[in-house]
Amino acid sequence: MGRDYPGFVDASFRRFRDVPELMRDGPEVLMRIQRAHGDRVRIRIGIEDFLLISDVADARHVLVTHANGYAKSEHYRGLKAALGRGLVTSEGALWRRQRKLVQPAFRPAAIEALAPTMTECAAAMLDGWRAEGEASFDVHEAMMAVTFQIAGRTLFGQDLSRETGPVTEAFEVALAFANDYAESLLPLPLWAPLPRYRAFRRAMATLDSALAAVIDEKRGASGDDLLGAMIHATDEDGQMSVRQLRDEAMTLLAAGHETTAVALSWTFWWLAQHPAIADAVSEEARRVLGDDLPDATIVRELPLTGRVLHEAMRLRPPVWIVERQPYLDDALPSGVRIPAGSIVGISPWVLHRHAAHWTNPEGFDPERFTEERSAGRDRYAYLPFGAGPRVCIGGSFAMVEATILLAMIAREWRLSLLSGQRVHYRPGITLRPTPGIQMRRTHVG
Ligand code: HEM
Repeated sequence: MGRDYPGFVDASFRRFRDVPELMRDGPEVLMRIQRAHGDRVRIRIGIEDFLLISDVADARHVLVTHANGYAKSEHYRGLKAALGRGLVTSEGALWRRQRKLVQPAFRPAAIEALAPTMTECAAAMLDGWRAEGEASFDVHEAMMAVTFQIAGRTLFGQDLSRETGPVTEAFEVALAFANDYAESLLPLPLWAPLPRYRAFRRAMATLDSALAAVIDEKRGASGDDLLGAMIHATDEDGQMSVRQLRDEAMTLLAAGHETTAVALSWTFWWLAQHPAIADAVSEEARRVLGDDLPDATIVRELPLTGRVLHEAMRLRPPVWIVERQPYLDDALPSGVRIPAGSIVGISPWVLHRHAAHWTNPEGFDPERFTEERSAGRDRYAYLPFGAGPRVCIGGSFAMVEATILLAMIAREWRLSLLSGQRVHYRPGITLRPTPGIQMRRTHVG
């Protein structure tokens, strides 16, 4: 039998038929459990225990003040297989060194220097839309394409989507495998002689050699993209090895593009259901941008656009769960004990709807992010980028990118939902809309 967790309410999840629901509706199931059982719940899934923590003081303890006592959970094994030991998946001294080496590439001046690339990619996409005219399309597919292009160009100085088809494909295969592998209840070793495992190994070999070639080529050049900055970053132990650079490059590509695409796709989905807010976003973009191509400083001048993005990420946080495992037995501020090795889950989806912090939590209301209405709200009630030492390194990058894209699209186009579709989310590593979001774009004004 399993362990006892005094202080945790038991929401045993034993029936086999519940597991498919968890796979399909994970975030909503956790929300139901929090509403029914409170902020410290033990959920038993098969033979595994999962501790859902939804108290902000406990979350702060795990993610921030006692972060050193916790590792990322073993459920990130799929990501580890694809990303190696990059920032998202490494621990301890290696993670500390890497974070220090990579951090300067994300300082405000560096992001400002990357903003024109983001703007160019957005403008190229919009040129295509203009040439095609009013049309129906899958907005998620479009956002995945443009954020992948931005990631490729800001990271490697190359348009991965256009110039290197096999690399894009290999990347998709590797990440899809990582997602499924992370979720699989009985993962086989990576060398398993099965077709999907073989395809994954082939994809990783393609990515390895492509990245090694790019790294080699960039060694001699000055670094004005993220990879260049990482290649030239040095500490007392010297520069990063090729292997480490490969892992960090894969990590940034994976962590940076789908998350932002997911945030934008859901933003358009919400705006389509709130036409008055969509009009106000278009009006703000036209007034502030005029006919210009925006730069990074524009973000400060588009406060409504920012609030809309935050409200969309509150209701559909692209990273809907973060998981940790304590190295040793630990006690949370609420008094309960966490045995060493237990899986602890903190869900932005749940915190973002928690009755203690939000009124009308299911309503789409960007104005809740005005300074006035945010005052007094606990900082840990809203965690789209996580918190503490492992907070998202790309949070500002993502906000600049998403604001530029949303504003440039909204000043020209109104996006409305095609009727008759049922959009759900797939609770993988991110919260992708599935099967996509079919929208019609029409000219604004
Ligand atoms: C809307 C977009 C994004 C969202 C919602 C998001 C969310 C997150 C969250 C919640 C974490 C913390 C995970 C944890 O604590 O277990 C994280 C970590 C991370 N993110 Fe993001 N992210 C976004 C965009 C980006 C971008 C654009 C990049 C890079 C270009 C990036 C790179 C990373 C990296 C490297 C980490 C690991 C940091 C570490 O552990 O030191 N993310 N992200």
